[in-house]
Amino acid sequence: MYSKTDYIAVFDSGVGGISVLRQLRKVLPGERFVYYGDSANAPYGNRSTEEVRSLTLAAAERIVTDFPVKALVVACNTATAAAIEDLRAQYADLIVVGIEPAVKLAADHHPGGNIGVMATRVTLREEKFDILMNRFNSDRSIYKIPAPGLVELIEQGKGDSEEAQIFLKELLTPYIGKLDALVLGCTHYPFVKHNIQALLGPGTEVLHGGEGTARETKRRLAERGLLHDGEGEVLVISSAGEGAMTELARRLLK
Ligand code: DGL
Repeated sequence: MYSKTDYIAVFDSGVGGISVLRQLRKVLPGERFVYYGDSANAPYGNRSTEEVRSLTLAAAERIVTDFPVKALVVACNTATAAAIEDLRAQYADLIVVGIEPAVKLAADHHPGGNIGVMATRVTLREEKFDILMNRFNSDRSIYKIPAPGLVELIEQGKGDSEEAQIFLKELLTPYIGKLDALVLGCTHYPFVKHNIQALLGPGTEVLHGGEGTARETKRRLAERGLLHDGEGEVLVISSAGEGAMTELARRLLK
């Protein structure tokens, strides 16, 4: 029913999932990707869980209706936290891969260390995150660091602006010298990783889960004999139509 040449759909509220698509392209260079950013409704991170769930289901439905899709990568921690089970129930035959904050990776790298997790409000308040956190925080401290407002700046292409630098400084100054690792638990944040790393200094490892999601997607496709090694292709579409978001997404992809 699925064909090797079908698309791998990559979904996010906006341009954030491009950081995951970059990893996917490294691991699966011969695949055809369709990237869908729901920028008409971004950001998701300050909405109610119910709203994020229904927006995510609506976006997924649009993608699978408009394109032949063999896998759906939910390249958004917020949408994964709110809707991954619903998506798996709705598309029981489809490969559905989500992303969650890379707490395990940070814990493996820094046994007994202090770990910060920067993510949206929705991701940090969902039960799924508490379950993840409780798996690892018995012998270490895990700090939740919500960053409302940062996604908006990145969506506007202002990740390197003075405004973004001031925002990050205010948010992260209390953690300077205190963290062994900072997990970027929102797919938008890798686009400002260099600024975060510069603020926290070399003593803090800054990491995210995009690579793991890409490897998991490859594993799931291989398991079903659905890997494709063709020319490699990326389509970028947005719920807001062709415009600033699609341009920014293409720029960030390079
Ligand atoms: N990129 C999304 C994530 O990984 C969230 C962005 C938003 O708030 O819309 O959580």
